[in-house]
Amino acid sequence: MIILNRCSPLRQILRRCYSQAAEITSNKINLTAFFGKWPETEQQEFREHMRIITDFISESEEQQLHEEIEPYMSRLRYEFDHWDDAIHGFRETERKKWFPKNREILERVRKVAFDGAVMPYVHILDLAPDGVIKPHVDSTRYCGTTISGISLLSDSVMRLVRTDAQRYNQPSSGTAKELESKGSEPDAAYRHQPAASLENNFYADLLLPRRSLYIMSHTARYNFTHEILAKEHSEFQGTPVPKTRRISIICRNDP
Ligand code: OGA
Ligand code: MN
Repeated sequence: MIILNRCSPLRQILRRCYSQAAEITSNKINLTAFFGKWPETEQQEFREHMRIITDFISESEEQQLHEEIEPYMSRLRYEFDHWDDAIHGFRETERKKWFPKNREILERVRKVAFDGAVMPYVHILDLAPDGVIKPHVDSTRYCGTTISGISLLSDSVMRLVRTDAQRYNQPSSGTAKELESKGSEPDAAYRHQPAASLENNFYADLLLPRRSLYIMSHTARYNFTHEILAKEHSEFQGTPVPKTRRISIICRNDP
């Protein structure tokens, strides 16, 4: 359950999704929609390991972050070229040094999502209005148990689909290196696109409000693909979620 402030525009979107007025008036809204037949234990684990914190940053903090990123980002071109790539219509960079005010925000991410241990380089991904992040799993070669992102400028819908691959339990079933030698990481790509069909499967849609933080770890990070739905498919529980330009600020830990 998530707490939203009283005048959030998102409340207005969600008001249309929920017929139960009691749920709205108590300010508690569920941002996860489950589909398919979930084994109960997997769903319990998933709920623990895929969290969304709404209003993680204020409007002025969003603006501060945007102001620091924009001068560099706006000089890059959006890339739409490679059809086998996981992401289309994006530009991206990494940043280690931040203005003090923004460093303070990232410090909050480090504490809430990583127990302190996070990679020093922060990934910034700018997705064009008609950009899309196709289903993928971040490589276990470059990224550890947890991926955490702040969404700027737009709401969006993230879909997590159970992969067909055998369940990957971190860390008990082996290190990333051991898995690689077993052949499950065939190349050096940052993102893998394993089979994960919606049919005969189970998955979840997550409404990621602008200025929220998501924390994706363990089962959600290893056993599910994640994607950001394209604007023409961007809906949550039957209600359109307009997706415009979206910038995400993503922190990861070491493998
Ligand atoms: C990625 C990714 C998610 C996001 O860059 O691998 O999944 O929130 N990004 O932008
Ligand atoms: Mn990813």
